[in-house]
Amino acid sequence: MSEIITRDQPMDSDMMPYRLKDPYPVPVNLERNPKQGNLLSLAYAGKNSEFTAISQYVVHHETCSDTDPDISNQILQIGVIEMFHLDMLGSCLKQLGTSVNLGVHNGNYTQFWTAQYIKYGRNHRERILYDIQGEKECIAQYRYIISNIHNPAIENLLERIIGDEEVHIQLFEKMLPQPR
Ligand SMILES: [Fe+2]
Ligand SMILES: [Fe+2]
Repeated sequence: MSEIITRDQPMDSDMMPYRLKDPYPVPVNLERNPKQGNLLSLAYAGKNSEFTAISQYVVHHETCSDTDPDISNQILQIGVIEMFHLDMLGSCLKQLGTSVNLGVHNGNYTQFWTAQYIKYGRNHRERILYDIQGEKECIAQYRYIISNIHNPAIENLLERIIGDEEVHIQLFEKMLPQPR
C-alpha cells in the first residue's frame, strides 16, 4: 500500500518545510462544553478560518500553476497543513459536543461558511499579500480564542498551530515579488 499523508508523518518527511517540527498536542477526552466549541468554530469555518485558508490556497495554487509552478506547489503544500489544522479542530469540536459543520455557532444561530470569504486577488503580488493578511488574521483570531476559551489543552494546540501559521507567513513573504 502506498504511504498516506497524515499529520503525524515523520518529521523528516517532505512536509517539513511547511510546518514546525514539534508534534501536535491534539486533545483527547475533552469534557463536553458547547460554549467552548462555539468559540472554536470561528477557527473552523468562520471568515478567518482554516477552511477559508484551504479554499483560498487551492484557488491561488491553480491560478499560478502555469506561470509559476514552484510557488504554486508551495501554496498547495501550505494548504495541506491547513487541512491538518482543520482536522484537529474538528476533533476538538466533536469532543466538546458542537456540531461539526461548516458554520460558526452562536447559541441557536449558525453562520454558515461562504465562498465570499475567499480573497482572489487580481495578480500574483495581490494574491500573496492576501495570503499573508489571512495568516495574520488567523493568528489574531487564535489569540482571541486562547484568551477566552479557558481550556489549557485546547490553548496548547492553538499555540502549536500558531507556530505553523508563522512559518507560512515567512514562506509567503519569500514568494512576494517586489512592486515594479
Ligand atoms: Fe492553519
Ligand atoms: Fe497557515
